[in-house]
Amino acid sequence: MVEEQPMVDMDTIVSLCKRRGFIFQSSEIYGGVGGSWDYGPYGVELKRNIKNIWWRDMVQRRDDMVGLDAGILMHTRVWEASGHVESFTDPMVDCMNCKKRFRADQVENGVCPECGGQLTEPRLFNLMLKTYLGPVEDDASLTYLRPETAQGMFVNFANVLDVSRKKLPFGIAQIGKAFRNEITPRNFTFRTREFEQMEIEYFVKPGTDEEWHQRWVGERFEWYVKYGMRREFLRLRQHEGDELAHYSKATQDIEYLFPFGWSELEGISNRTDFDLRQHTLFSGRDLAYFDEETGTHLVPYIIEPSGGVDRAALAFLVDAYREEKVRKANRVVLRLHPELAPIKAAVFPLLRNRPELVALAKQIASELRMEMMTAYDDTASIGRLYRRQDEIGTPFCITVDVESLEDNAVTIRDRDSMEQTRVPIPDVKNTLLDRLGKL
Ligand code: GAP
Repeated sequence: MVEEQPMVDMDTIVSLCKRRGFIFQSSEIYGGVGGSWDYGPYGVELKRNIKNIWWRDMVQRRDDMVGLDAGILMHTRVWEASGHVESFTDPMVDCMNCKKRFRADQVENGVCPECGGQLTEPRLFNLMLKTYLGPVEDDASLTYLRPETAQGMFVNFANVLDVSRKKLPFGIAQIGKAFRNEITPRNFTFRTREFEQMEIEYFVKPGTDEEWHQRWVGERFEWYVKYGMRREFLRLRQHEGDELAHYSKATQDIEYLFPFGWSELEGISNRTDFDLRQHTLFSGRDLAYFDEETGTHLVPYIIEPSGGVDRAALAFLVDAYREEKVRKANRVVLRLHPELAPIKAAVFPLLRNRPELVALAKQIASELRMEMMTAYDDTASIGRLYRRQDEIGTPFCITVDVESLEDNAVTIRDRDSMEQTRVPIPDVKNTLLDRLGKL
């Protein structure tokens, strides 16, 4: 009998992430640093799986998309053209008593949330992280760590068009780090100063932009559902006029019901022709597209599905988390989609003091490892080993027992149903590949 508990609190997720090796605080031994996190052995696999399936689904399996990996450091003029130098700001207030700084929209009643002190008038604070190129730190060498990956795709529009010979509509996709000097990083990895984005810039003919915007909203929403996120924990939210970014004609957010409330997972914007026109103006390079059908030049409109890898990872973790009662005992299980699970199979010997069982289990693990992420573990009792793997979301556990030496078969235990099936050792690999949908 299994009882499920639907919602988890953030402390439980943060503690699981630390305890099991998904996410650690950055520079923890020095007391930590705000807004930066380190992904441990399982976190890095989860994140990599998210990026890989996104890349596979959005780039490799589509004929209308190509990839790009642009530099984090770009020409300063890029950020002038994009509007980030002028407009990428948050209004902030300072406490005149304790000197702490807060985002103006996160302060209630006009007093300091920490000490109740009087606050200054709001001032605009640019969120871009500054750096200097070369040995001299002056205005001429000033640039920024990119606050979004998008600009790399706009400034390479002509290069990509030349080499790919794509016709509208087509997209450029990129995954990479972005940096923002968030005044109040919070909610674990939800709002950080260093994060990864998965962005698509999809170039379309003006006039077809609204239709493409809706298509991308639907496509991206279903992508999260496809990889296991519960539909009822996802919703769309249209930006109000005063909330729209300076480049956007319309934006829809895909929101997830995190333990701290509905919050943005991904934004899909209609950026119009703003970006290509701005870069044409600032660089002097013509970024128009020659439309063979009409024999005229046009400036494409851009639809931009822009998601965060870290936010997706957090939402997938939260969504997968279950506490269940199984025969009066508690078990914590991450019901991650098998494609996302950091480890696909874990192999154990039932008795670790039996060298023949250990050798056979290690041999099975090393063969499986060629096909999928596989763990070998013999450092605890079988019940404990199952619980460990449940907590990191491993779909299959394989146990080698004394009978295995005679019948040349092992037990495969399914994470979700906990059902155990006996499978001949030569069939284990294909059985798992089949159940993972890889055959
Ligand atoms: N190019 C458009 C753009 O950057 P955005 O809404 O500012 O739009 C897109 O960011 C996505 O990047 C967000 O939906 C979120 O998933 C992620 N993101 C933005 N700021 C973030 C932060 N401080 N920490 C973690 N992820 C962030």
